[in-house]
Amino acid sequence: MSNAPQYDIDVAAFWADPYPDLARMRREAPIAFVPQLGSTVFTRRDDIFTQEKRIDVFSSHQPNGLMNTLMGHNMMRKDGEAHMNERAAMFPAVSPRTVRASWLTRFQAHADRILEELAPRGTADLVKAFALPLSAECLKDITGLTNMRFADMDAWSQAMIDGIANYNGNKQVEARCHAATAGIDAAIDDMIPVLTKHPDSSILSVLLAAGQPIDSVRANVKLAISGGQNEPRDAISGATWALLTHPEQLSLVRDGRAQWIDAFEEYARWIAPIGMSPRRVAKPWSYGGVDFEPEDRGFFMFGSANRDEACFAEPDRFDITRDTGKSIAFGAGPHYCAGAFASRAMVADVALPSLFARLQGLRLDRAEPVRIGGWAFRGLLTLKVAWDGS
Ligand code: HEM
Repeated sequence: MSNAPQYDIDVAAFWADPYPDLARMRREAPIAFVPQLGSTVFTRRDDIFTQEKRIDVFSSHQPNGLMNTLMGHNMMRKDGEAHMNERAAMFPAVSPRTVRASWLTRFQAHADRILEELAPRGTADLVKAFALPLSAECLKDITGLTNMRFADMDAWSQAMIDGIANYNGNKQVEARCHAATAGIDAAIDDMIPVLTKHPDSSILSVLLAAGQPIDSVRANVKLAISGGQNEPRDAISGATWALLTHPEQLSLVRDGRAQWIDAFEEYARWIAPIGMSPRRVAKPWSYGGVDFEPEDRGFFMFGSANRDEACFAEPDRFDITRDTGKSIAFGAGPHYCAGAFASRAMVADVALPSLFARLQGLRLDRAEPVRIGGWAFRGLLTLKVAWDGS
């Protein structure tokens, strides 16, 4: 175990709002052992930015981890060449060129259809009625699993996320995760002959075309599902909420003094949809006055890094005019989010402009307070709104 100073948290309070504890850790114990998480956590942005690149020390290879056991061995749990090989094989499906050429118009068609059905209602929970189906429909295209239902995409993504955080071995959580991975495997089995005959730009298709072993193909499609559904969903609903609660910032976009991408990047800095990425210590190491031992677990806290006052003035303030260049919402090392370009297109080019254009007079339903939670994954649980029905 590392000899980092110990910092205790109340897990429920940390889930409800991790930012006060993270601010205190950055101030008093920037690399701290948190017994309730069984891990040494890095909370300052520049420490994470440099140490995440030390893959010889902070390894992604976690052979006994729940992710490997439940979802198969994917690129996110590999280092070096093995990782880069799979990442390169996936790249043609998520490159800026493919996003522009293949995905953007399809994302827009999904948004238009969902909003067209929604508009006459005049009121909705935007998490369930817009952010969730849009994210899932886009992810069906990106993964190649167009045979899935959007609701399964969301539910199975969540079941895998719950499964890999199931450190207490809860049998029901494990069973739900197994059901989800079995459902995804069946969807993959159905699509393999289709995409072999008619290859396209989807992840499943390009991984098959690259000749990747089938177990690796399955594991990386599951990775894209577990990592590619909640985050755009949470960024769409979260950025919408942030703009509705900061009308002066929304005006900046409406007046052309700021862009939707500024709102998305600032939201992802302010409330990072992925707040943490875990690593296994691979060799003895000293950093920041802390000695690490092999097999220690380290958490890079992106959510904390993005509120680091050494890098961002008034970090708790949502301000779409700020320079977000130092944000590490998508990571800071070789595992930098493979879906970053697709997410920017989905949220900033499609979701936000379409939503605010189609639902005129969009406003929060003041009777239904917004609920928000999580620290490893953080997002809105509900977003009740109303608009001028049409
Ligand atoms: C707002 C949206 C998103 C955010 C904030 C986000 C954030 C992240 C973060 C923080 C990581 C880990 C980086 C690290 O450990 O250094 C990651 C990895 C990854 N993300 Fe995303 N993500 C988003 C959307 C997506 C989407 C839509 C996909 C679908 C293709 C995706 C696929 C991946 C993959 C495959 C990895 C692993 C990359 C690797 O191991 O090399 N993400 N993402």
